[in-house]
Amino acid sequence: NKIKVFAPATIANVGPGYDILGLALEGVGEHLEMELLDSDEIIIHPIPDYPDLPLTPNENIAGIVAKAMLNHLGRKQGLSIKIQKAVKPGSGLGSSGCTAAATAFALNELLDTAFTPLELVEFAMLGEKATSGKAHADNVAASLMGGFCIIKSYHPLEILNIPFPKDLQIVVAHPQIEVKTADSKKILKKEMILPDVITQMGNIAALISGLTTSNFDWIRSGMNDLIAEPIRSYLIPGFRQAKSLAMENGALGCSISGSGPSIFAFCEDANQAIEIGDKWSQYYTGLEVDSVIYSSKI
Ligand code: HSE
Repeated sequence: NKIKVFAPATIANVGPGYDILGLALEGVGEHLEMELLDSDEIIIHPIPDYPDLPLTPNENIAGIVAKAMLNHLGRKQGLSIKIQKAVKPGSGLGSSGCTAAATAFALNELLDTAFTPLELVEFAMLGEKATSGKAHADNVAASLMGGFCIIKSYHPLEILNIPFPKDLQIVVAHPQIEVKTADSKKILKKEMILPDVITQMGNIAALISGLTTSNFDWIRSGMNDLIAEPIRSYLIPGFRQAKSLAMENGALGCSISGSGPSIFAFCEDANQAIEIGDKWSQYYTGLEVDSVIYSSKI
């Protein structure tokens, strides 16, 4: 009656796919340990290095997701939940999504319940709604299902796992400032004009075609976004210069990870990722902004 799980951190939007594209980073993520208790109390233990995160079940993402699942089943069940975070909340790397995904998966296993992967994503989305005000699925779907996901539809929820080039490398820079998803969602325009919609559809089509056929030129040509990046980049110190650095050094594309402030670049191989990571690290040091660099496959 005890389980330990790992939920990968994720990059949502992936350039042009606002709220519909997400990918899981292979080696970066969160560990969660869950145990069934004889009581009916949900206990969330203090989270190492994050003393400010709430621990009451109604406010903590793990508590919110676990309670929703138990309510759905009409069960009262005590739980002990220990969370070890790898990425900071407000990083743009799906930190809250990791907790939500890990909780949904762990509880489903412990209760021997046969919720489908799609149902688990729906429960995990409740955690996202609590954090950002909107139940976006791009982070939690990728964290639960792994790989590269397309949220084909929200009503009803439909998710596709698509193939991607196995050697594609991703480098991420996480400048240590916090951007709240709720805030960076509010600043986006609510409408888009048709010529921009057409450009955006072309970009997404090229990116997905490039990913599924390992055509790096198509990935490069599709990695442009007209919805989130032009507006959110103002919230991220040095975004334009950091992107230029990545592109000058051969990246296939560079954009904001989720709602930022992390940024990511697609690279053809690990050497290129290391080179761009070094350049970014020096660049942020020059700006006097601390940064953490991750390099990972999908
Ligand atoms: N798709 C969401 C957004 C992801 O961009 O607001 C948040 O990490």
